[in-house]
Amino acid sequence: MKPIGPLPPEFAGQKGALTIAGRDAETWAATAGDTPLFVYDSDIVAARVARFRTAFPAVDLHYAIKANPHADLLARIAPLVDGLDVASVGELEVALAVKPAAAISFAGPGKRDGELAAAIRAGATLNVESEGEAARALRQGEALGIAPRLAVRVNPDMELRGSGMKMGGRPSPFGVDAARAAALVQAIVAGGADWRGFHIYAGSQALSAEAVIETQAATLTLSERLAEEAGHVPPLVNLGGGFGVPYFAGDIPLDVERIGAALTAALARCDLTIAGTRYAIELGRWLVAEAGVYLTRVVDVKESGGEIFVVVDGGLHHQLAASGNFGTVVRRNYPIAVAARMGEAAEATVSVVGPLCTPLDRLGDRVALPRTAVGDLVAIFLAGAYGASASPAAFLGHPPATELVAPLSGS
Ligand SMILES: Cc1ncc(COP(=O)(O)O)c(C=O)c1O
Repeated sequence: MKPIGPLPPEFAGQKGALTIAGRDAETWAATAGDTPLFVYDSDIVAARVARFRTAFPAVDLHYAIKANPHADLLARIAPLVDGLDVASVGELEVALAVKPAAAISFAGPGKRDGELAAAIRAGATLNVESEGEAARALRQGEALGIAPRLAVRVNPDMELRGSGMKMGGRPSPFGVDAARAAALVQAIVAGGADWRGFHIYAGSQALSAEAVIETQAATLTLSERLAEEAGHVPPLVNLGGGFGVPYFAGDIPLDVERIGAALTAALARCDLTIAGTRYAIELGRWLVAEAGVYLTRVVDVKESGGEIFVVVDGGLHHQLAASGNFGTVVRRNYPIAVAARMGEAAEATVSVVGPLCTPLDRLGDRVALPRTAVGDLVAIFLAGAYGASASPAAFLGHPPATELVAPLSGS
């Protein structure tokens, strides 16, 4: 038997039928008309936003829509946050439908001229990732007769310690090395751009408050130094994010309040604050991961070589991350439950596998579950981030999963 991750607090104490946003899982499946499906509870997202606001009273909150770009969910999140961070023109278009362009920033290497022009025309901020990209953005702005809004993404000297995905402290396709960032700011300002500040993103999926505090402090120090070298005060310093969520057994939830207290104190001491700089934190999964549940129905229960396989109609084509094939080194089990038997004692050790013809399609590896029969709904938690949009939906031609946002409109 292998352990499963902890259920999010909103679901952890439930007994009997799984309830998501006040409706039981079977009712959600009936609303979708078929399985598999994702249900996103926007009230859970709103609760995370409220928690952030209390912990970080002096910091703007940006939502990195790559975590979950579903249009209906985004429409609920947009009014709650100060900005949206996008990573493509596709995401830019979705974001422009729900937020003014001035509150949208576009990061990511390899932006083509047409993509730079689209952002400049719209009035979004481009987080430039290299000197070459900055020069091309200035040329596009000139051609359009618009001073482009440009922020400099800095590849910081430090990494986010203990993060699942490190994006600093090493050679990187993301951002300009810190040693050259001030010169780039000067070139951008001289080139007539509307310089918006720095974007400094050091890593993702961190569960250590200490590591985040350390990284934020180093980011502030770096921003002060770069501002001084450049001779310009940044209007905004995007401090990155990296707030992680507990996916696996033994993961401890991030102590966000501790980070907030440390950052509030650090900002009060920072010269840039006195000079009028604003600060932002950009978060994806911490806002949405725990709000999503993936529901899939048992099609077959079979035995092979003494092991029981629960075969469900959903799999890695919808929820790649739960199969362990999206950025994890060692495959571990996401929290999983039989939706009708929450809180019941385990009866057997089973592997929950999907319908794809590959051994990678495994949503639960030797997990202890209550009685599980054909027709039961199985729930995989932590499905609100990097689920439907980060999975190879076209692989093997199975239908896509339905995505529903709770509360349902009009209810
Ligand atoms: C620049 C940037 N911002 C935000 C995110 C969102 O990360 P997370 O969902 O872990 O908060 C990422 C993740 O890769 C990123 O690269």
